[in-house]
Amino acid sequence: MSLNDQIPNNVDLSADRKLMRALTRWQPSYLEWWRDMGPEGFDEDQIWLRTAVSVDAGGWAHYDHVRMSDYRWGIFLSEPRQEESILFGDHQGQPVWNEVPGEFRGMLRRLIVTQADTEPASVEQQRKLGATAPSMYDLRNLLQVNVEEGRHLWAMVHLLHQHFGRDGREEAESLLQRRSGNPDKPRILSTFNQRTDDWLSFFMFTTFTDRDGKYQLSSLSNSGFSPLARATRFMLTEEAFHLFVGESGVDRIVRRSAELTARDPNGEASPQGGVELDTIQRYLNFWYSSSLDLFGTEDSGNAADCFAASLKARHREDRYDDHLAMEGCYTLEQLQGDALGSLEIPLRRALNEVLRDDYVRDCERVVTRWNRTIASCGLDFRLHLPHRRFNRVQGLHSGQCFSPDGQPMEAEDFDRRRNDWLPSARERESVNALMQPCYAAGEFADWIAPPDKGVKGRPVDFDYVRFSDPKRVGSAA
Ligand SMILES: [Fe+2]
Ligand SMILES: [Fe+2]
Repeated sequence: MSLNDQIPNNVDLSADRKLMRALTRWQPSYLEWWRDMGPEGFDEDQIWLRTAVSVDAGGWAHYDHVRMSDYRWGIFLSEPRQEESILFGDHQGQPVWNEVPGEFRGMLRRLIVTQADTEPASVEQQRKLGATAPSMYDLRNLLQVNVEEGRHLWAMVHLLHQHFGRDGREEAESLLQRRSGNPDKPRILSTFNQRTDDWLSFFMFTTFTDRDGKYQLSSLSNSGFSPLARATRFMLTEEAFHLFVGESGVDRIVRRSAELTARDPNGEASPQGGVELDTIQRYLNFWYSSSLDLFGTEDSGNAADCFAASLKARHREDRYDDHLAMEGCYTLEQLQGDALGSLEIPLRRALNEVLRDDYVRDCERVVTRWNRTIASCGLDFRLHLPHRRFNRVQGLHSGQCFSPDGQPMEAEDFDRRRNDWLPSARERESVNALMQPCYAAGEFADWIAPPDKGVKGRPVDFDYVRFSDPKRVGSAA
């Protein structure tokens, strides 16, 4: 098999023997990790998956039924832009860097490793979900997200191997050794150690946590370090689908819950076999607040340094006129004593919060869409994003208690109301109890509405998964 068949790429891998050696050495460890920690139980089946084969906007992906063990994880950088000069920060206007600038080596490596670590982490979190897929369509989408997170790991490992020498190789190994939720060797960021073992969590994760990924990738996509900018630009094209899976997945649960609630004599979805709308709100509260933590602390010298170094910009940095962000302040609200007060910090130190602002606006749009679905079923119930201070474990508001509308409260009062606002163990059990596989083409579990259309022009009842054991289809709920 030719190298390009083995590792599809547009980085001229075959011309770079050293890099090729490093990657072909890493590949068996990756495959071993995929076998141990990747999706469980579908190795023998043919899944209708897209594989990235180029960066050509017109046709960058190939769709076919493949076994996941035959999947080809490739390495692609977007084409360089016309004028490749640095857009922002203290190095604005200088030519972009194709090699790591020595003075920023540590900072850049940390940025890459932190992003890279989330990719295998989410695959580990979602490892067992296939066993309870609510449909063949959803199973296929889950596995698509999983293989693409694997490819994102490849993209980041390529940067580590090509640009960071021995340190990079060691980091690439460590990426395969940490384990989501393992207390001895956890993944780097807290959200990526949370359990994602039911489909409501999965869809909330792909709505809110993958969306954090989108904003992180977007801010790296203008990095002065060109290989990182180009790698993340291409990752964003795949990420869009992950966000679709989340947003439309929750929307379909919301639709079914609202329909069942409207039909039930007591206005409850669970006696009808659905998920209560209140439960959906509590899962939303949990995953949204946890994902807000991923943006880092509000007043951040580290964010200022990464921006100054021209390594990490804002979301859509090209929107701004001023790419130095030296002028101006950002006003944060913070608990001072018993009351909320304001705190002014220089704009550059507030860039995590600026990125979080963009994220929050995007999430508001998503919730508005879900609420339209509820309204269309004739219900008054509405979902809300909790206030950004609610349930935070990182940054200014960590260690303090706030209600979902952002009001400070005593820890005891918060604890008393915790189960009103966050899923309890019992509630998680009741959601889990609904999770039964439904594998027959075109059939869907009762707690989720079917999608409007299938994937890439295929019908909803297309055979997205061809099971090697046809009996599995018969296990439909
Ligand atoms: Fe990713
Ligand atoms: Fe993703």
